[in-house]
Amino acid sequence: MRLLPYAAVVVLLCASATIAQTPDLAQRQAEAAAALAERQEEETVLAEGEGRSEVFGYCTACHNTALIRRSAFTRERWDELMDWMAEKHGMNPLEGEFRDTIVDYLARHYGPLTRGPRGGNPFLN
Ligand code: HEC
Repeated sequence: MRLLPYAAVVVLLCASATIAQTPDLAQRQAEAAAALAERQEEETVLAEGEGRSEVFGYCTACHNTALIRRSAFTRERWDELMDWMAEKHGMNPLEGEFRDTIVDYLARHYGPLTRGPRGGNPFLN
């Protein structure tokens, strides 16, 4: 029975490894909160310009700015999108000058791409 002490050591090692892999709830919650805080966006993720604060304030109630930043629409299309968001997704309808400020900003900074994805090189596009 010379193996018994070794077996005991192996069992102990396994047990401590299992305990080490189970962080307590408080720690996991703290990590989740930190991850969430990291994902919060600052207004500066949007292109600088007149109307940025309005867009950031108004448009991030339901989703972050990724949807905006990956878009490249004409002014007309952005304008339609405002109605779509209001009709389909319950956004407070945008009207008047405030609407112009927002749509102008979007069209100016997130308008159709004027150059192709590879910098406009005709041989690569
Ligand atoms: C009331 C909630 C709400 C508000 C406020 C809101 N949106 Fe949206 N938006 C949505 C929902 C819901 C979708 C659909 C998301 C999806 O398809 O995953 C969406 C989708 C989008 C899309 C993607 C459309 C597409 O077809 O690719 C863009 C761009 C967008 N929103 C821009 C904006 C802008 C700009 C504003 C501010 C003027 C805004 N959103 C405000 C709810 C909202």
